[in-house]
Amino acid sequence: MGSSFGRLFRIATWGESHGGGLGVTIDGCPPGLPLSEADIQAELDRRRPGQSRLTTPRDEPDRCEILSGVFEGRTLGTPIAVLVRNEDARPAAYADFAKVYRPSHADFTYQAKYGHRTWMGGGRASARETIGRVAAGAVARKILAVDLPVEVLAWVDRVQDVEADVDLGAVTLEAIEATPVRCPDAQVAARMIERIEKARKDGDSLGGVVRCVARGVPPGLGDPVFDKLDADLAKALMSLPACKGVEVGSGFAGTYLSGATHNDPFYMEGERVRTRTNRSGGIQGGISNGEDIVVAAAFKPTATIGKPQETVDEDGNAVTLKAKGRHDPCVLPRAVPIVEAMVALVLCDHLLRQRAQRGPGGRP
Ligand SMILES: Cc1cc2nc3c(=O)[nH]c(=O)nc-3n(C[C@H](O)[C@H](O)[C@H](O)COP(=O)(O)O)c2cc1C
Repeated sequence: MGSSFGRLFRIATWGESHGGGLGVTIDGCPPGLPLSEADIQAELDRRRPGQSRLTTPRDEPDRCEILSGVFEGRTLGTPIAVLVRNEDARPAAYADFAKVYRPSHADFTYQAKYGHRTWMGGGRASARETIGRVAAGAVARKILAVDLPVEVLAWVDRVQDVEADVDLGAVTLEAIEATPVRCPDAQVAARMIERIEKARKDGDSLGGVVRCVARGVPPGLGDPVFDKLDADLAKALMSLPACKGVEVGSGFAGTYLSGATHNDPFYMEGERVRTRTNRSGGIQGGISNGEDIVVAAAFKPTATIGKPQETVDEDGNAVTLKAKGRHDPCVLPRAVPIVEAMVALVLCDHLLRQRAQRGPGGRP
C-alpha cells in the first residue's frame, strides 16, 4: 500500500508525529553488508529538528535502534527494522485545534479519506515520517558505495528569490554543511538566513528549491517504460511532504532553448562515452548515461505560520486559527538530507535491479 516504496530494495515506513515512535522496515538488503546504528545515526542527525534557529525548536534526539536484520555488525539479508522513539512530543499544543483544519496542511484531506485521524502534530503527514526514509537511505548509500564511487549530495539552491550560484561539479559536503541553511554559496547563504529569520520573526514562512547531484552513477540504471529512472526519482521526491515540483536536468528552463542549444553533444573520453554538457541531467530515455544525475525539488512555504488564518472546523464553523506548537519557518535546510535519502533509495533499487537483470558478469 501507500507506505511501501521500491522493488528489490523495498522499504515500508511507519509511525506518527506524536505516537510512540517511527521507523522503517527494509526488505531486500543484501547480506554481509557492514552496518551499525552509527551509520544510520549520522544521517538522522542531519535531519533531526532543533539544529538551529532556522528549524523547529522541537528537541528530538532521534536516536535509532536496529531491531533486526543485523548480526555481529553485518546484515543478514533478512528484514532490517529501525526504530526511533518520539521523546519531545507535546500533544497539548495541538489540543485547541483538534477539530480545526489547518490551511494547506493535511488535516481536512486525512479526515476526508480515513474519517478518523490523529490531530497531534499532523500525524503521518508530519515530516517526522521521513525519519524512516533517511534511515533506509543511509543503508542504500552503503550499498551504492560497495564497489562504485557513488556520491549523493543535495543543498538549498534557492530560498524564495534568493538564489545560490553553485558549481555542480565542485560542490562538497563540507561546503553544504558549513552553514545552518545548507547552502554552499557562503554569501548567498547569509542572505538566505537573514530572510528566514525575518520570516520567523514576522510569524511567516518561506519555500524554495533543493538541488541534488548524484556522481559516479554507472550508465544503464532505469527500467523503461513505467519505471524510468527520472520517473522514479520524480515520484520519490514528490512523495515528500511540502514538495510541489520536481525538475530533471534543465527542467522547465530547458524549454526556453532550441534543440541546437539544448542537445548534449557526445564525445569519447578514452573508452568512455561522455557528453560535453549535461542538460539531460544524466538520464536519457529513462536510463542513466553515466553523467551526473541532477534533480531539483521545489518545497512550498511551511503551512504552519504565526499569523491568524481563516479556516473552518469539522462541524463547518468558521474559525480564526492562530497556530501554536512548534514548526519550521522554512523546511528547506532539513529537507536536504531527506532529498539525498530519496535519491539514494531510487539509485540503490535500480542498481540491484540492473544487476539482477544483467546476471553474472553483466554488472554495469
Ligand atoms: C523537513 C520538513 C519539515 C517540515 N516541517 C513542517 C512544519 O514545521 N510545519 C508545517 O506546517 N509543515 C511542515 N512540513 C510540511 C508538512 O508536513 C506538509 O506541508 C503537510 O503535511 C501537507 O502536505 P503537502 O504540503 O505535501 O500537501 C515539513 C516538511 C518537511 C520536508
